[in-house]
Amino acid sequence: MDQFALNAIKARNCRQRPDYKLIKVTQINPSIGAEVEGIDLSQPLTADQFAEINVALNEHHVLCFREQKLSDEDHKRFGRMFGKLHSHPYHAAKAKAIASGDTATAAKITMGGAGDDPEILYIKADETSTNVAGEGWHTDVTCDAEPPMGSMLYITQVPGGGGGATMFLNMELAYETLSPTMKTFLEGLTAIHNGGKPYTGNYGVPVPAGGWPESEHPVVIRHPGSGRKVLFVNYGFTIRIPQLAPHESDALLNMLFQHCATMQELHCRVQWTPNTLTLWDNRCTQHHAVWDYFPAKRFGQRVSILGARPTA
Ligand code: SIN
Repeated sequence: MDQFALNAIKARNCRQRPDYKLIKVTQINPSIGAEVEGIDLSQPLTADQFAEINVALNEHHVLCFREQKLSDEDHKRFGRMFGKLHSHPYHAAKAKAIASGDTATAAKITMGGAGDDPEILYIKADETSTNVAGEGWHTDVTCDAEPPMGSMLYITQVPGGGGGATMFLNMELAYETLSPTMKTFLEGLTAIHNGGKPYTGNYGVPVPAGGWPESEHPVVIRHPGSGRKVLFVNYGFTIRIPQLAPHESDALLNMLFQHCATMQELHCRVQWTPNTLTLWDNRCTQHHAVWDYFPAKRFGQRVSILGARPTA
């Protein structure tokens, strides 16, 4: 690790951690991720419990709640505590295809499992899968003008032979481990995030009428909760930095994607057990579903919470 990264990681890992009265929080590693005990998400939470969960989320960015037996409504109730629920662009694309009588396209929009409830996205893989949702580093739906502030994935079926973890990456730390000169260079830049890159490019979902969402966000944003700066580009959706020539934009984005993907000190790995719900803060993380279990089955569902427009 270089000296810039060492300094940033030491500063973060040596800081004082909060105390909790109502929940037990065990960090997965000092950079990102924690296991939370003492919460039953099938029951409404008290304001004090929710406040402690928020403190832990701000601290660790990824929280795992194990052995939860949740109905769809329980899952959505927990999501609504953070804000209005987000509807994935697949749902709008599917609705448009159905409305225009394009049943062939509507039938194809099942990747990631666009079901009937626009607030739930099914995540499934089996022996017929040719790809799986989230297979590659990304932040959820940054093609939206107001991307989800967080997501909660509830995995009920894990692959029998092991595997199927989700990797997470701390994007505050990704920013902090850059050199001061690079940080200065990134100030004021924006980037274009396009839904067609993953949805049609990777997953082959037909382009809906009117196209996939595309949005421009600052390259460095400020997390609205912590006030800390965050690197906000991701391989999944980010296509271009409009202030640069195309070859410069490609070179810079590739360097930033590599920095995030290869620096393992920024990562944690969530190993799923059946009925685990993992909540992540989409404003300061990326994640990557590891499809290392084909042709075994894995199943779950995701609820995401609408966020605000990211600001520099
Ligand atoms: C996702 O990108 O939300 C899917 C993650 C996973 O299935 O592990």
